[in-house]
Amino acid sequence: MIYTRDVDNIKTILSAPSSQSVLGSSRGANFKPVAGDGLFTADGKVWEHYRASARPYFTQARQASFIETLETLIQQRLRLLPVHNDGWTEPIDLQSFFLDLTLDASMENLFCQSYSPQLSGTEKGGHLPDRSAFAASLDAAASFVGDRTILGKMYWMKQSRDFYGHCKTIRRFIDHHINGVHDPCASPSQDEEDLKSSVPSNNQYHPTELRNRIQPLLFTGRNPSGGLLAIIFFFLQKDLSIYGKLRNEICATFGPNGNITLIKLATCQYLQFCILESLRLGNVVPAIMRSAEKDLVLPHGGGSDKQSPVLVPRGSTIIVCIQGLHLRKDLWGEDAASFVPERWHSRPWDWSFIPFSKGRR
Ligand code: HEM
Repeated sequence: MIYTRDVDNIKTILSAPSSQSVLGSSRGANFKPVAGDGLFTADGKVWEHYRASARPYFTQARQASFIETLETLIQQRLRLLPVHNDGWTEPIDLQSFFLDLTLDASMENLFCQSYSPQLSGTEKGGHLPDRSAFAASLDAAASFVGDRTILGKMYWMKQSRDFYGHCKTIRRFIDHHINGVHDPCASPSQDEEDLKSSVPSNNQYHPTELRNRIQPLLFTGRNPSGGLLAIIFFFLQKDLSIYGKLRNEICATFGPNGNITLIKLATCQYLQFCILESLRLGNVVPAIMRSAEKDLVLPHGGGSDKQSPVLVPRGSTIIVCIQGLHLRKDLWGEDAASFVPERWHSRPWDWSFIPFSKGRR
């Protein structure tokens, strides 16, 4: 197993054609029960298919309407918090708050229906799992899968009856929501020709095909986004001067009525800096795994000074240490471990910063 936080190595690994470097199969099978049998766990042609089928969910128009959805859901959730006479609420667990919020928002985005937080936990359709049960199972199963990841290819050695129970809850919840749904967001593209047999001509997707599309997006739409929001607030509460500066800029940009648009979000510079710095230090995804399908040469790691090329034999597992890269003092300065949003004033987005793997989002 090879661990690297070397910029040139990372560039080589993440830029290598999929014939040379593909996702480790252990991650595919390990994550499948939680993230589904699609974009997050597939390789090659199947991955390309699901990648193409995810595009309609992220058009600019949908991003704009997603902002409205998110704002409505945030306001609904804030109104649910009991407020004391002095105007303050009880302390709340922000991580749960944000994960509930991003679950509702993802469901609205994917199922094109409204999911009011007031109804969460009350929507028991007889024996069906509700949103809280689904979220609890998702957390339990994701944590179990995280533990198994440490075992690499031997992940299957860790087993538990509870885990399979949670996976069943996850599948039943998603199947309930997509069952027989005409997917209003999907428009088959050229890339989908290969899998046309699974897409009936009336655009009524097979439930399994739809689950494969939606499950990874539901998982990733809830967990990393909710996690990042909690991380941002973790850093802000540690330094109230940064919090104050950000609050002032947000009030100045969006005004009292909070008219939030994509353009205004992009121009709210200090907000962007705080998000980037939280992505750098918080490391929502601290490492990613690849497996060499063929022999591969990495630029660094060989020789006595480790600066010569090194051979990575076929079958090797490679771990790209995002967290390690983001904390390198030679790349980020002596204050690499400190939360300093201002550093982004003069910082290009290059290979020393890979919170989303290759490239921006
Ligand atoms: C703070 C937010 C997020 C972070 C830091 C993040 C980070 C990442 C990283 C590092 C990977 C690469 C994993 C690998 O190559 O092994 C990844 C993959 C993925 N992410 Fe995210 N992500 C975030 C939000 C989202 C959201 C909101 C969605 C969709 C709703 C999403 C969908 C996906 C999918 C489907 C993949 C796997 C497919 C692929 O290889 O392109 N992510 N994400």
